[in-house]
Amino acid sequence: MRARWVWLIIAIGLVGFGLAGCIAARLPNVTLDPALAPPAPAPILGPFGQDAPISTRHDWETRRAPLLRQAFATEIYGPYPAHIIPPRLLSRDVISYAPLAGEAQIEQWSVAVGGADRPLHFNMIIVMPAQARGPAPVIVMQNFCGNRAAFRDPPATIAGPLTPVFPGCEGGWETPLVELVFGRHIMVPPYRQILARGYALAMFYAGDVVGDEAESARAGLAQLYGEDAPRAGALAAWAWLYSQAYDVIAADARFDAAHIAVWGHSRNAKAALLAGANDARIAAVIAHQSGRGGASLNRSDAGESIAEIMGAYPWWFPPAYARAAESAVDQDDLIALIAPRPVLLGNSRRDAWADPLGAWRAAESASPVYELYGEGGLVQPDMRRPNLRAGIGFYTRDGLHGVHSQDWDVFLEFLDAHFRAEAPQSGRQPSR
Ligand code: GCU
Repeated sequence: MRARWVWLIIAIGLVGFGLAGCIAARLPNVTLDPALAPPAPAPILGPFGQDAPISTRHDWETRRAPLLRQAFATEIYGPYPAHIIPPRLLSRDVISYAPLAGEAQIEQWSVAVGGADRPLHFNMIIVMPAQARGPAPVIVMQNFCGNRAAFRDPPATIAGPLTPVFPGCEGGWETPLVELVFGRHIMVPPYRQILARGYALAMFYAGDVVGDEAESARAGLAQLYGEDAPRAGALAAWAWLYSQAYDVIAADARFDAAHIAVWGHSRNAKAALLAGANDARIAAVIAHQSGRGGASLNRSDAGESIAEIMGAYPWWFPPAYARAAESAVDQDDLIALIAPRPVLLGNSRRDAWADPLGAWRAAESASPVYELYGEGGLVQPDMRRPNLRAGIGFYTRDGLHGVHSQDWDVFLEFLDAHFRAEAPQSGRQPSR
C-alpha cells in the first residue's frame, strides 16, 4: 500500500516537472527591439499640470518631485501610513545555522512598526559576513514565503511568516518544482555569493505586517491606516516597510548606512521601486522583473493589464489605480524619482507578462532626470547588456520569470560598480 503511494507521488512529480518544462518551452520570447516599445510618455521635464517645465536640479527637487510623489500616493499606490512612530527593535537573537557556520553571523530581529496603539511587527533575518572589515553595506530584501522558506533545513528558531503564504512556500515536494520553474534562488538567496562580496543581507516577509491575500491584507491595512484604509494598498505599505527596515539597520554601527540597497523580485520589486522613489536614504534599487505597477508603463498595452492585476490582486493597489492609464504620472516618473541614485531593472525574454519593452521605454523616458544630475541614465547598446555603471541599468536574460545565480552575479556587480571604488571597470555582459 505504502509503495503505491510513493509511486503515485513520484508520478505526479514527474508529470508536474514535465508540464512545467513544456509550458516554459512554449512561452514566446519577447522581441528585444526598442522600436516595438510602447509610445514614449510626455517628456519628463516638460510641464506637469500647472507646473512649468523643469530645467534645474533645484526645480526638480523642490517643485516637481514633491508633486510626483503626491500623485503616486493619490493616483497609483495610495499613501504611506501617517501618524506613526519610528520602528522599535523588540528583540535581537543570534541564530545558529550550521551550513553557514564560520562564514556568516546570523541574527533575527523582531521589529515593531506603526502606532504604539496599533502594534504590528515583522521578523527580519540579518546574514552578515563573519569577518567584516568595517561597517558592511546591506541589501534589504523582501521575500515571498517568509524567512523559514529562505533556508534549507531552517533551524527551529527562525520564525515562520505571520500571515498565510502560497502552498508552494511550505517546503516539501513542491520546492524542487517551484525552483525548476522560478529559479534556484526564488526562495533561498545565494548567501555565499552575497557574503563573499562583503554584503550583509537583511531579509523579511512584508506580509508579516500587511498580508498578501485579501483577508490578511485588509486586516494589516486597517491597523496601519485606520480610517484611511480604503485609499491604501499593500504595495505602498510594503514599500514603507523597506524604509522602516532602513531605520533599524542604519542605527546599528555594524552596517554602512550610506550603502543600503533595496532588492525585490516581481511584486516585491514594485515595492522596492516605490521605496527608492520615496526615500532618498536608500542608496540603490534592484527591481527584478517588476512588471505592471513596477517599472513598466501603465499606458503600455503589452503584458499584464491594469484590469488583470486589479482583478487578481485587489489588495495591492487602492481603487484609484484602475484609472492609472489616464493619470498624469506614469512609471517613468517613479524611476526618475530615484535619480541620481542607481537603479537596476532586471527582465527576462520569456516574461512577456512583465512587459520588458514597457519598462525599457519608462527607463529611457526617465533618463533626462539623471542627466540633470550629470549622470547617464539609460546608456547601453541594447536591452540585454546593462551598463552597470550608469544611473539606470537594464538587464535582460533568456528564460522565464524567476531568480537565478546568473541574475545575482549581475545584481552584485551592479552594487559593486556603484558602492565600491575598487570595483572592476567592466560589468558582466550576459551572453546572447
Ligand atoms: C503575478 C502578477 C505580477 C507579479 C507576479 C509576482 O504574476 O500578475 O504582477 O509581478 O505575480 O509577484 O510574482
